[in-house]
Amino acid sequence: MPDIPQISLNDGNTIPQLGFGVWQVPDDEAQPAVEAAIRSGYRLIDTAQGYDNEEGVGRAIAASGIARDQLFVTSKLRNGAHDYDAARKASDESIDKLGLDYLDMFLIHWPVPEQDKYGDAWRALVALKNEGRIRSIGVSNFLPSYIDRIVEETGIKPVINQVELHPQYQQRDIRGYHEQHDIKLECYSPLGSGAVLDNDTIAEIAEKHGRSVSQIILRWELDQGLIVIPKSTHQERIAQNIDVFDFELDDEDRRKIDGLDDPENGKTGSFPETMNDLF
Ligand SMILES: NC(=O)c1ccc[n+]([C@@H]2O[C@H](COP(=O)([O-])OP(=O)(O)OC[C@H]3O[C@@H](n4cnc5c(N)ncnc54)[C@H](OP(=O)(O)O)[C@@H]3O)[C@@H](O)[C@H]2O)c1
Repeated sequence: MPDIPQISLNDGNTIPQLGFGVWQVPDDEAQPAVEAAIRSGYRLIDTAQGYDNEEGVGRAIAASGIARDQLFVTSKLRNGAHDYDAARKASDESIDKLGLDYLDMFLIHWPVPEQDKYGDAWRALVALKNEGRIRSIGVSNFLPSYIDRIVEETGIKPVINQVELHPQYQQRDIRGYHEQHDIKLECYSPLGSGAVLDNDTIAEIAEKHGRSVSQIILRWELDQGLIVIPKSTHQERIAQNIDVFDFELDDEDRRKIDGLDDPENGKTGSFPETMNDLF
């Protein structure tokens, strides 16, 4: 079983550096996928209200036989529930659907600037943390200016900002801000939702090490202290993506991958400033 490093968060809790994501995994496929992940050694599971698979994830957790305190379960608040009371109710719904007593981490999924209620949602998350229903609270897809605002309003910092980050979209411009404020970056779409897997430069590095392209990408992210949550519904890929702790990249490999950053065109998902869908 791989020994996954733990990353310290600014609220005193820790999170496994590598976890398993389940975006676009239908509820009935989430159970076998998460069961396979837990069997392979993953202990961090990343779902969201908007993924409509919290019940499937919960069935897998219940079937796993793993002690609750050995797992780290994250869910995310849906965009249509940013009102204070709605956010509180929504977190209870997630906890119930997952069949748990508490969540290890709950994130505001998107800031939804047009709606302009993420400050209310953050106040609800702060209250839920104080009540012990959620161990750690954070955000996703937040620009530094949005984080500044919620910290100014509540005095409480998110532990994590979960953002799209991979070799073609390296988010170099926001790294310093997060380091300075001790807010960890968690890479979503760490494989570019699959878009980076056919990159020739990484394929060469993969061949040199006798590893897969996904393993090289994940190693490159882990080497920078980033948290990663790759997704797959294939058992052998699920196992491959966690088998990344027994080899090392050299400086030349890292330089080559650093050189693939394409801030203008590299993003595969939506932009925080314009994602206003109320799912
Ligand atoms: N906060 C947010 O707004 C947000 C947005 C997007 C994602 N996320 C989170 O981040 C997680 C990961 O991101 P993601 O799902 O976008 O994509 P990803 O993990 O970057 O890539 C997943 C894709 O790569 C393929 N893949 C995975 N491992 C592979 C391997 N070893 N060899 C070949 N192909 C492989 C998968 O195919 P198969 O499944 O067919 O194997 C799938 O098509 C999500 O599941 C979710 O938890 C969060």
